[in-house]
Amino acid sequence: MAEDSNLQKNVHLEILQNGNSLLSEKEIKNFVAKWLLSQSNLIHENVISIFDDQNLAEHVNSISVYEDFEIPTNGTYPKIFYHIYRFNSSAPEMEELDDDQRISTNWILPTQEFHGLWDSLIYDSGVKDELLNYVSTALHFSEQCVDPNIVSCNRVVLLHGPPGTGKTSLCKALAQKICIRYSSKFTYGQLVEVNTQCLFSRWFSESGKLVIRMFQNILKLVEDSNVLVIVLLDEVETLARSRTSALNGNEPSDALRAVNALLTHLDMIKKYPNVLILTTSNITEAIDVALIDRADVKQYIGLPSVEAIYQIYYSCVKELQKVGIIRTSQTVLELPRLSAVLKLKTLQDEHINSDLLSEVNLDKSLLLNSIAKKSIGLSGRTLRKMPFVAYSLFIKTPLVSLDVFLDALSKAVDRYWEDIKFLKLVHDSYHVTF
Ligand SMILES: Nc1ncnc2c1ncn2[C@@H]1O[C@H](COP(=O)(O)OP(=O)(O)O)[C@@H](O)[C@H]1O
Ligand SMILES: [Mg+2]
Repeated sequence: MAEDSNLQKNVHLEILQNGNSLLSEKEIKNFVAKWLLSQSNLIHENVISIFDDQNLAEHVNSISVYEDFEIPTNGTYPKIFYHIYRFNSSAPEMEELDDDQRISTNWILPTQEFHGLWDSLIYDSGVKDELLNYVSTALHFSEQCVDPNIVSCNRVVLLHGPPGTGKTSLCKALAQKICIRYSSKFTYGQLVEVNTQCLFSRWFSESGKLVIRMFQNILKLVEDSNVLVIVLLDEVETLARSRTSALNGNEPSDALRAVNALLTHLDMIKKYPNVLILTTSNITEAIDVALIDRADVKQYIGLPSVEAIYQIYYSCVKELQKVGIIRTSQTVLELPRLSAVLKLKTLQDEHINSDLLSEVNLDKSLLLNSIAKKSIGLSGRTLRKMPFVAYSLFIKTPLVSLDVFLDALSKAVDRYWEDIKFLKLVHDSYHVTF
């Protein structure tokens, strides 16, 4: 990898050490560095899990390779960062009320549960890299003890946009990623997911007490500066809703007190340099103004573009091929490859090199692309379910060809739109009748 002087970006290697390996991080790093030197070619794969090296095969589960977000190294060799980590095996802890309602869930990171989540989320623009860059900068500023009264940085992120676009998942994936990237600075990470729905759907007098109880627990975690504490406040529109209903209802003071208690406690914990607050909202207009003011980054997460849809479907096809549900004799191209082949096709125009084009199964990729086009408007959540729906509705055999699968996928998307049309009709007729 280091041999290629054209490579201008830094490289991060996220090295997952086997749970039973007793080697120190330094030993693992030395093995990986030695192995890298023995690789004559540039490493193209994003995740490497099969090693020709005996030591790595024994001690390393996988190495994920990422390039840094546009950091030019001015012609010098790229820097390689080694992030060595292991999974924490403890199960998430839940804080529950007497009636089994969960008000918060705590994970110790990195955890197996979120492995691969970051890579599975597909966005068009550099949303993920920007977020990662933001959080890295924020942690760097607090590490350097930048006075927040002079250069303000709250370490509060707000992701907003339609439901099912991956906001909650992105927060969890980001939390995991940060813990991996900062594994040498923090012993481990604690992700506290606060169930705001449950917190504010209670009688308001109880909400206030619950908020205080929860933050007392968070404060205990924060006091250990070796632990990175990430608080995830999901669906914060509940806060604004509580405020509004408080103003119209009969218990205004309790409800307002509960929301204010939450904001005051947030202010209190965000003073600690080892705290990060991630928030999401499905309704952009209804976010509490006080919370918007506190967020340094307000990122809109929209519905996937046709390119992102193609990549999501592509990953589904690959997964079903890996597990032996779709035959591997035919395949679809990854988007960059498809774009390159199509470019070549336009260049050559009538003089298409038919051997090359048939070899790469262009027709299957084009079919997938046309299915992606008619899927515009669907959320990531719906798209990820579509292959399952296609299979359950239109396929009767345990193992299918790619052709049969794509045909079923296409039908499933058509069916989805028909169902939506029908639902709209029903909905409109209700409006007329009642
Ligand atoms: N952009 C995306 N790329 C890939 N998968 C996505 C995307 N958006 C959503 N998903 C899928 O939908 C699931 C649910 O998303 P979720 O995080 O609950 O969305 P939100 O919080 O915005 O409602 C994710 O776990 C993921 O499988
Ligand atoms: Mg969500």
